Amino acid sequence: MSARRLTAAIMISGRGSNMMALVNAAADPAYPVAFTHILSDKPEAPGLAWAQAQGFETEIIDPADALGISTALDNLNVDLVCLAGYMRILPKTVTDRWTGRMLNIHPSLLPKHRGLHAQAQALKAGDTRAGATVHLVNEDVDAGEILSQEHVDVLPDDTVDTLSTRILAVEHVIYPKAVADYAEKLRARGFGS
Ligand code: GRF
Repeated sequence: MSARRLTAAIMISGRGSNMMALVNAAADPAYPVAFTHILSDKPEAPGLAWAQAQGFETEIIDPADALGISTALDNLNVDLVCLAGYMRILPKTVTDRWTGRMLNIHPSLLPKHRGLHAQAQALKAGDTRAGATVHLVNEDVDAGEILSQEHVDVLPDDTVDTLSTRILAVEHVIYPKAVADYAEKLRARGFGS
């Protein structure tokens, strides 16, 4: 018998287009992860309204409350957590607790351009290639093990907006795939059986 679908929460801060890409991918019953809860540090996040309209359970967390975040995630009883434009640094107690079970998408070719404004950093550096990276989360910002990466060319007339748009299209493809591949890897190791 095949292992059950793993369960996952998604954490957002804003528009949530990566969350939508994950949720849309999981509409396929063959997708190995079911997303069950959407959390946000911002009650006004547009992505949260979308999630509620889809019927997801949502929760607001206080980004400064390490114990509150930890407890909230524990109470969800999920296997994985996917950060999708969650724009706060998680406390070490939380990243330690979720080692190997928390993923993030970042709009650069890590290890280049960690942190905020990665696309602007790439333009400022004069890079000819930019891209997106899916990685595991650890206590250091955008520094965990890389799971998947895809590049886009930087064009001579690129602005932060045009480059970000092109990278975002790549994010929407690689994030659902990387989450699925990682979940399959965990299931092959007996996780979820
Ligand atoms: C994405 O570029 C993601 O890589 C970064 O923040 C942005 C979030 O966009 N961490 P969205 O909320 O998923 O649309």
